Amino acid sequence: MAKTAELIIDGKSYKLPIVEGTENEVALDISNLLEETGTITLDLGYKNTGATKSAITFLDGDKGILRHRGYSIEDLAAKSSFLEVAYLLIFGELPMKDQLDKFSNDIKLHTMVHEDIKKILDGFPSSSHPMGVLASMFCAQTAFYPESLDPNRSAEGVYLSIVRSLAKMPTFAAWAYKNAMGHPVNYPDNSLNYTSRFLKMLYALPAEQYEVDPIVADALDKLLILHADHEQNCSTSTVRIVGSSKASIYSSISAGINALWGPLHGGANQEVILMLEAIRKDGGDTEKWINKAKDKNSGFRLMGFGHRVYKNFDPRAKIIKKTADDVLNKLGVNDPVLEIALKLEEVALRDPYFIERKLYPNVDFYSGIIYRALGIPVDMFTVMFAMGRLPGWIAQWKELRENKEPIGRPRQIYTGQNLRPYIPIEKR
Ligand code: SDX
Repeated sequence: MAKTAELIIDGKSYKLPIVEGTENEVALDISNLLEETGTITLDLGYKNTGATKSAITFLDGDKGILRHRGYSIEDLAAKSSFLEVAYLLIFGELPMKDQLDKFSNDIKLHTMVHEDIKKILDGFPSSSHPMGVLASMFCAQTAFYPESLDPNRSAEGVYLSIVRSLAKMPTFAAWAYKNAMGHPVNYPDNSLNYTSRFLKMLYALPAEQYEVDPIVADALDKLLILHADHEQNCSTSTVRIVGSSKASIYSSISAGINALWGPLHGGANQEVILMLEAIRKDGGDTEKWINKAKDKNSGFRLMGFGHRVYKNFDPRAKIIKKTADDVLNKLGVNDPVLEIALKLEEVALRDPYFIERKLYPNVDFYSGIIYRALGIPVDMFTVMFAMGRLPGWIAQWKELRENKEPIGRPRQIYTGQNLRPYIPIEKR
């Protein structure tokens, strides 16, 4: 017998079906609530609202658990590769060797972008933030691949769009950086693997025999894995709602890039480093800045701290913190802001304000320190997040389409004026 919940409104009783997931999460199914009761729910920021059923990623915020298709993020970060995790997220299973080889080779065939995209790139001044350039170039693929606009595209056609998205994102990302530097772009070197190919496009200078540092490539591959998907976060929900109108994969993901850009979401990794630098320049007084973060009137938040779901340590933050130590030691980098970050974490985690609100370091708190050690400029941090999150966006967009979910269209509670007569301007 399916479980139900009872809702009583104005003395009338209604039964609401209860939905349970494979990890025993429980939801009230309110699909027919408005029709049956004439009322809707209200949940600003969807803090208590499930938007979908998904088999891709499982989070347990209280226990600090993150799994992709049942595999723990700890296992994937330690043992897998970014392309293998991308395959797992998108197609549901870890690939056999021939499947991964084919996937990787299919991607290699599409790393080039149409030369006309450079005309779009050239239209952006060097002062443009790379995230805006990235979102625009990514969406421009709708112009070069108009067949992607077909809402009923074949599975083969969707696979081609998926491969093109993964193949061209690193090229777009590197080109956005070169545009910001006022440097000529580099073309993809397909003799390299996914992450090294990106690094060479990003850093190589004209006529330079650029050699990718394997330490840097390995660290970046791990960072991309750690950002690959995260359930129904702001940018993924954006990709889903745009995709629910049967918009193309390119326009849906471009919308996700823009949502990720915000400082409360993916833009936080850039803000963390700017915050740590400000604290360093201010003399490194962590207590002073912790008190600022606690003062509602200061308008300052401890960037990289807090999370809508994790009320325990973000498991990714733990892995990234250790990776930061490893990478800085291997590269012989001594970054003073790492000490400040460690001190901030130590002070915050014993402060009642943070303890009561269950505010812990999130994925963005340490990632910027690694990106900086890898030589990646601050403006590119959120672009790195977008590169990592791409397979998650693709997987969620594909799942929504395969499940034939309806177009997203939330309701509202109206709080404006009641009916009133129109007054001609001469009589106002
Ligand atoms: C990402 O959703 C995801 O999965 C996102 C992500 C992913 O992989 O996709 O994990 C990536 O976006 C990580 C989050 C990056 N953002 C930041 O680091 C920005 C700083 N953090 C916050 O602004 C905040 O914690 C959020 C946005 C992350 C979560 O905000 P919520 O869940 O809406 O919580 P809230 O803003 O209502 O805060 C609850 C309380 C408030 O205090 P009270 O009003 O109860 O007194 O906690 C306080 C807030 O003022 N608070 C903070 C704080 N974060 C929350 N106070 C100081 N510093 C902070 N960082």
